[in-house]
Amino acid sequence: MSKWFKIPPGDPYFCVVGSPIAHSKSPDIHLAFGRQCGIALRYERVEIPADCFASAVTEFVAAGGRGMSITVPLKEEAFRALSTHRPRAALTGAANMMTVTPNGTTIGDNADGTGLVRDLVDNHGLNLGGRRVLLLGAGGAARGVIPSLLEARPSALIVANRTIQKADYLVRRFHDLGSLQAFNYRDVPDGPYDLIVNATSLSLSGEIPPLSSAAVGAETCCYDMMYTADGHTRFLDWCRDNGAAACYDGLGMLVEQAANSFALWHGVEPDTGPIIKGLR
Ligand code: ATR
Repeated sequence: MSKWFKIPPGDPYFCVVGSPIAHSKSPDIHLAFGRQCGIALRYERVEIPADCFASAVTEFVAAGGRGMSITVPLKEEAFRALSTHRPRAALTGAANMMTVTPNGTTIGDNADGTGLVRDLVDNHGLNLGGRRVLLLGAGGAARGVIPSLLEARPSALIVANRTIQKADYLVRRFHDLGSLQAFNYRDVPDGPYDLIVNATSLSLSGEIPPLSSAAVGAETCCYDMMYTADGHTRFLDWCRDNGAAACYDGLGMLVEQAANSFALWHGVEPDTGPIIKGLR
């Protein structure tokens, strides 16, 4: 008897796992994609605490589950527990989704970076090629998006972090993918930058990174990977107060990474625009 998954016979079963999970919008997004594309599916939130992913995924496969979205704090743990990975997950060492194949093996993947770049480029019309990009933070969230940001060929990607050793580690890990440099906040090279992405966990507590306002100029786009109901975060308010050209929260990134997962699971690309509007 599974501790976490009771899957009665019916439509293909998917879920999002993490802790806490009650706030997750992933079921609303995947079920809306299903309605839009005429695909029948079930999709639920399942609370899985840290250190329990390996046993949970074994139960999920045995119960007949088809795919999972994976969120905080399980992405790195999931990467270690899954039997195979797509290259995007292998690069970042984290999985934000998994697929169960017909023979029961599991494939880990990471659509976070793709989701961010699609939101920036397709939804907000940014061109990252040749631009100077500043990424704030060097934890799991930052690591998950660096390969995709570098793939968009910015002229420079600067990682700023309070703990410089963690930013230095990311430079060593990803230096062969493009131009990447690490600084602590005090030493960040002069702005203004074309794009500043906040990948710290500070927005969760309503705080802002200790960044000089000189990083922001009249042409700077600012992006917070966290999302809120009204699109405002303390970081984005700070950027606006310092004259940023445009400010976006991470709702579009969430929907775009979900769309990428949906396409891999169901073989159909959903139209994300109406779903993003519907969530505001
Ligand atoms: P996540 O998986 O969300 O990225 P994480 O791996 O714990 O979470 O990373 C949190 C990020 O927010 C880190 O870059 C962290 O900086 P440190 O590496 O120096 O810890 C950053 N962060 C958290 N609290 C911070 C604070 N008070 N000031 C500056 N940066 C902070």
